Amino acid sequence: MKVEFSAFPKAFSGNVAVFVAAEKQLLATAKTLDEGTGGNVERAIAASRFTGAKGQTLAVLGQGDLGRLLLLGVGKSRELDARAAESLGGLVVADANAAGQKAVTIVVDAVKGTKLSPAQVAAHVALGAQLRGYRFDKYKTKEKPEQKPSLEQVTVVVSTVADAKRAYARLEPTVDAVFFARDVVSEPANVLYPVEFARRAKELSELGVKVEILGEAEMKKLGMGALLGVGQGSDRESQLLVMQWMNGPKSQAPIALIGKGVCFDTGGISLKPAAGMEDMKWDMGGAGAVTGAMKLLAGRKARVNVVAVCALVENMPDGKAQRPGDVVKTMSGQTVEVINTDAEGRLILCDAMWYAQENFKPQAMVELSTLTGAIIVSLGHERAGLFSNNTPLSNKLRAAGAEIGEKLWRMPLGPKYDKLIDSDIADIKNVSNGRDGGSITAAQFLQRFVQEGVAWAHLDIAGVAWSTKGNDTTPKGATAFGVRLLDKWIADSFER
Ligand code: BES
Ligand code: MN
Ligand code: ZN
Repeated sequence: MKVEFSAFPKAFSGNVAVFVAAEKQLLATAKTLDEGTGGNVERAIAASRFTGAKGQTLAVLGQGDLGRLLLLGVGKSRELDARAAESLGGLVVADANAAGQKAVTIVVDAVKGTKLSPAQVAAHVALGAQLRGYRFDKYKTKEKPEQKPSLEQVTVVVSTVADAKRAYARLEPTVDAVFFARDVVSEPANVLYPVEFARRAKELSELGVKVEILGEAEMKKLGMGALLGVGQGSDRESQLLVMQWMNGPKSQAPIALIGKGVCFDTGGISLKPAAGMEDMKWDMGGAGAVTGAMKLLAGRKARVNVVAVCALVENMPDGKAQRPGDVVKTMSGQTVEVINTDAEGRLILCDAMWYAQENFKPQAMVELSTLTGAIIVSLGHERAGLFSNNTPLSNKLRAAGAEIGEKLWRMPLGPKYDKLIDSDIADIKNVSNGRDGGSITAAQFLQRFVQEGVAWAHLDIAGVAWSTKGNDTTPKGATAFGVRLLDKWIADSFER
């Protein structure tokens, strides 16, 4: 699908989407088209429930050279922000595909009283259109043409084309980055295993990212017993993916991003039940988001120093698999009693976190993982859980998430929770006795591997990495939650 910007034509033709503001206020183009069709637009609105409220749409048949007219509700002027503009772009794409259109023109009329210029609205409309156009269909071999998305061309009409193109140039790297993350998360585990994930991440070196991949022999030398223990039942070799984007001031200590990359989580010997186990192909959503964020930072040449470490493993039951009760030694030197082999995320993350801190001395470390089912019980699919030892960092992450539409909710930590993971025979056990506070005890485990002075946050994205419903700019499936949040947080906190 191609997205282009264009100036206002003398006359419109084909399928056109136009803005209508709250309380049925036709904006300039809608008004012109209404007059040109002898009041068709007004009549159609009068015969419907469409009011121009934010996100409403109404299709009207055009006349002459016009195809289908889609009225787009932009709501009250102050509601038209970047996210709302993206939603409009997404709505048009979904509607055009449902209607079997090949091309559509979206007209961005100036809306009085908005914070955004028409050029900025146009750029975000274009981004939303692209993001909604994603489809993971590489394994569908029998689709008939009429079952495939029809839309090939989106033209965004705006008075200030050059400004819109400039604004879009800053946003466009988002598309590839989000698609990268959605692709790796959507791939089945027979195709995407640790070595294959690492191979795909290697592509980031074309953008100037330094990509290093450590295999099991190197990790063994480093003493990563917890990570290796998880991968030990799999025929697929575990990998540590290390990416560096050091484009900031020399004096700036880097930011570290850490990702959980369990390419498939059977639970190991503590085997999961069969129902829904296929979902565990997306247990690498954290690593996908972190790698996508690196792609976005490099794609827009962010002036910042960022390193990313992703722990890539497959958690399988096997004659060689680790057993409940095994004790492993982490890279930090602390020992862990593995009570439940299904609590594997924390075991791989603790070694990845330690590696990042030892090697890069980061000022801040943010880790993303589909860590616990319990966070879904707490927060559902609306927000990711945020755990942190640092309130300013939490607030900045929360603000970035709210702004970009990837919402976080801060959860508690504390010594009483921490005590629950003391082991009788080792330093720590990987789960507490009951299931109570399962997301918190998981975060407490991770916090034991945070070094003095490092501002740390853990985002439990188990409820948001995958969506069975989708939204205006995200088709159902992998969401790439975290890619834009991390980018926004870094842009706002470290690049100004
Ligand atoms: N990957 C799962 C968490 C998960 C569950 C993500 C459902 C997405 C949807 C994680 O490795 C896991 O198995 N966690 C266990 C922890 C338990 C054994 C303490 C869980 O949540 O049940
Ligand atoms: Mn698990
Ligand atoms: Zn898992």
